Amino acid sequence: MSSCLPYRFSRRILSTPRSMIREILKVTERPDIISFAGGLPSPAFLDTAGVARAAEHVLSEDGCAALQYATSEGYLPLREWIAERYRIRFGLSVNPEDILVTHGSQQTLDILGRIFINEGDPVVIEAPGYLGAIQAFSQYMPEFHAVRLDDEGPDIAEFSETLKRTRPVFSYCIPNSQNPSGVTYSTGCRQELAGILEDTGTLLIEDDAYGEIRFTSEKQPSFGTLLPWENVALLGSFSKIVAPGMRLGWLCARKEIIDQAITAKQASDLHSNILSQRILYRYLVENDIDSHISRINSAYRTQCNLMLRLMDDLFPEEVSYTRPDGGMFIWLTLPEGCSAMEVWKRALEKNVAILPGTPFYTDGGGDHGIRLNFSNSDAEKIETGITRLAGVLHEDIGAG
Ligand SMILES: Cc1ncc(COP(=O)(O)O)c(C=O)c1O
Repeated sequence: MSSCLPYRFSRRILSTPRSMIREILKVTERPDIISFAGGLPSPAFLDTAGVARAAEHVLSEDGCAALQYATSEGYLPLREWIAERYRIRFGLSVNPEDILVTHGSQQTLDILGRIFINEGDPVVIEAPGYLGAIQAFSQYMPEFHAVRLDDEGPDIAEFSETLKRTRPVFSYCIPNSQNPSGVTYSTGCRQELAGILEDTGTLLIEDDAYGEIRFTSEKQPSFGTLLPWENVALLGSFSKIVAPGMRLGWLCARKEIIDQAITAKQASDLHSNILSQRILYRYLVENDIDSHISRINSAYRTQCNLMLRLMDDLFPEEVSYTRPDGGMFIWLTLPEGCSAMEVWKRALEKNVAILPGTPFYTDGGGDHGIRLNFSNSDAEKIETGITRLAGVLHEDIGAG
């Protein structure tokens, strides 16, 4: 017979929002469900043959080093590749020493939370904001201050007022194809934000998970080029351009930050999976990654445009939505009186999964918002799913 031991879980873990998402995503595994709820890349671009070739190469050429303990900073050739990518993409000059390889941006967020946040410290975040960041930072019990996101980026006046009033330990943002809204900050907005960040001496954490997933040729500057180097920490990930299952990303920042991050990383897992790092590096140098990214962008652009066209044709006019120029998500705003949780339930009855907006807000709000993913569904699923969702929205708005 089992007795109930009174486990004394930490306040840290008890104050971390339990992801309702996990519950929501569980149903999406059912084969009869059309899911716009998750955030998975298309399986068409997970290059199993290419990764197999790279793995074969590493295991036959790199010897035991591929299976041995390794340095916490990460595999030097991979860090050199990342540094070179910053130069090519933004003309930004960084050194491999400025880069720490992590097990994906999610781990980088956890590390940054650990090294910067004491309980009660102010942290500025977008509203809606990335739920994974809210979850990672929540473990360290900050006080969140959310700034409303508009079509061109965070509301400038609110951002400025919030930074001056709260003096946050950092401000976290996703300037390119934000998750969940799909919004890309305009150049003007970036410049104004950079001015405010510099004037208030605030550290900006730029999460660029979707920076290479672009549907236009228009280039936007990284905050790494707009701010003094001590004002920024840049996050990148291989999840959307190569494979999320390899669990690799990075932090690029000034030495003082990297040093603390290395200490946090060592305490947690010593170093990122060296086999995975070496395979990824081989994959990057043996393949034409730019063509691969172009193919991803072309497919996602088509899927996004199809979804938007169907929404234009079928959705009630009271429902508004963003028109992303990259990334993987569209954000819907429901009219007053409609609940995203209600739409979620009704859509599920029709075997369509969506993500209601609440977990993207730090204050429990957001029941007017819905996130839709377009990267992981083919044209047929998008047509069927959006048609069914349109039916639910018409019923819901008619009833409201
Ligand atoms: C904005 C953002 N940051 C970080 C992550 C986590 O990515 P990774 O797979 O690199 O851990 C995601 C994943 O979807 C994301 O959308």
